[in-house]
Parts: sequence; structure tokens; C-alpha cells
Amino acid sequence: MASQPLVQANGLAKSYSAPRRTASPTMALRGVDFAANAGEVVAVVGPSGSGKTTLLYCLAGLEPATAGQIRLFGADLGTLTGDRQADLRSQHVGFVFQRFNLIGSLDAEANAMLPAQMAGKRVDRDAAAAAFAQVGLRGRARFLPRELSGGEQQRVALARVFLARPAIVFADEPTGSLDTRTGREVMDLLVKTAQDGACVVMVTHDLDLAALADRVVILVDGSIHAHLSAPSPAQLLDAFQQVDR
Ligand SMILES: Nc1ncnc2c1ncn2[C@@H]1O[C@H](COP(=O)(O)OP(=O)(O)OP(=O)(O)O)[C@@H](O)[C@H]1O
Ligand SMILES: [Mg+2]
Repeated sequence: MASQPLVQANGLAKSYSAPRRTASPTMALRGVDFAANAGEVVAVVGPSGSGKTTLLYCLAGLEPATAGQIRLFGADLGTLTGDRQADLRSQHVGFVFQRFNLIGSLDAEANAMLPAQMAGKRVDRDAAAAAFAQVGLRGRARFLPRELSGGEQQRVALARVFLARPAIVFADEPTGSLDTRTGREVMDLLVKTAQDGACVVMVTHDLDLAALADRVVILVDGSIHAHLSAPSPAQLLDAFQQVDR
């Protein structure tokens, strides 16, 4: 395990100004401390609107923090220019977006190969085919996103990350559009990615999958409510139910 976390947040706060001045600003994160290391899977769970996506965006530098510090690969994001942050992301970070973010005019294979190509990494069509086979998408390489089901698009987004082999994977509900069996297969791939040395930070609503992570963070109303190490599904359910009460 790395001596220093690959990604770390201290006192991370994030507020969004209200759209069209309709209401007061939203405090999406209220002083979050978080760290994740190479070789581990950290799952983030919590009710809808609790700040999970915002946490991933801030950790990856896709949204600027309102307060607090984020270190990604030891670099303080607050001191890096946008270009340097983009370089860092391109080289080391993979992101599976909650809404997939595929490019509509590119077929599935081109979508999957794009981040690796943009980062100057070697990627060929055999590797793409292997990644598609891993996520159960054989025969779909030439399909456009609109010709794929939601679950298939989600798996293209996962193949895209596996192909680029980043040191950190942020995955926002990577199994949200998948059936139980396919979701479990994807989770196994994420666990294997961590066993191969990457750091995986994932958001999920599925407590059975979260229980397969090394650590689980429960986020409630922008704050960390609980932090569990390798919980059993029953322990996790118990901790989660305390949130609902
Ligand atoms: N761009 C934005 N502008 C204004 N408010 C936002 C924006 N993005 C998120 N929010 C607000 O911040 C809060 C946290 O949102 P976030 O998307 O992080 O929640 P989440 O835990 O990922 O929820 P879900 O489980 O539904 O995906 C919500 O109240 C949301 O309305
Ligand atoms: Mg979300």
C-alpha cells in the first residue's frame, strides 16, 4: 500500500449557488475528510442528494472546492492551473459518470479508446475488444450510444476506464443501470482493478456491492456519518438504517 494516499481531502466544503436565484445556495459538502490509497476499493453510500457525486467531482478536480484542501497524487489541486489539473486527470484518473457521458457521434469502440488515446497511451483494437469482452459487450463495438441500452452504455463507460488503466478510478454508480448479475461482474472487475494496484473510489446505492469494498463511507447531508472497515452486508445495512431514522 502506498505510503501517501493517492487522493485526500481535508475539510472539503462545496456549495452551489442556487440556479436562477430560486433559493438559497446548496451546501453539498460540509467539511469532509477523506483519503483513499492504492490497492483499495472505497465505497461511498448515502441517500440521494447527500453529496456523493459532488464528492467524486471535487476529488477528481472536476468541480472546484469552496473550502478545504484536496491532494491528488500529492499535488494540492488548489495550487494547480486548470491545464495542469486536466493533465493529471488525463494521465492518472478514470471517471465513470453517473450519466455515462459518451460522445453521441462516436461508436462504442471509439468512445472507449478516446481517453487512453488522448493521454498518449498505447491502445489498440485488440485491447478494446478484450475490454468489451470483459464487460460483456462483444459485438457492440460499432454501435452508437443511442443504439445501446442504458446498461450497455454504462458498460462502454466502464470499458473506457479499464482501457486507460488509470491509477485512480472514480466510479459514480457504475452498476446503477445493470441487473444484479452484471452488476456483480462489474464490481468484481473493479475489485480486481484495485488488486492490480489501482485506487477505486465508487458511489453505489447497492449495499451488497458496497460490502465488497475494503472501506465504506456513509455520507449524509454533506457530512461523513460513518466510516466502516470491511463491513459485512448486515453491519452496513444496520449503519445505513440508522441514517433513515
Ligand atoms: N450543479 C449544481 N448546481 C446546483 N446544485 C447542485 C448542483 N449539483 C448538485 N447540486 C445539489 O447538491 C446536492 C448534492 O448533489 P449530488 O449530485 O452530489 O448528490 P448525490 O448524493 O450524488 O445524489 P444521487 O444519489 O441522487 O445521485 C443536491 O442537493 C443537488 O441538488
Ligand atoms: Mg449522484
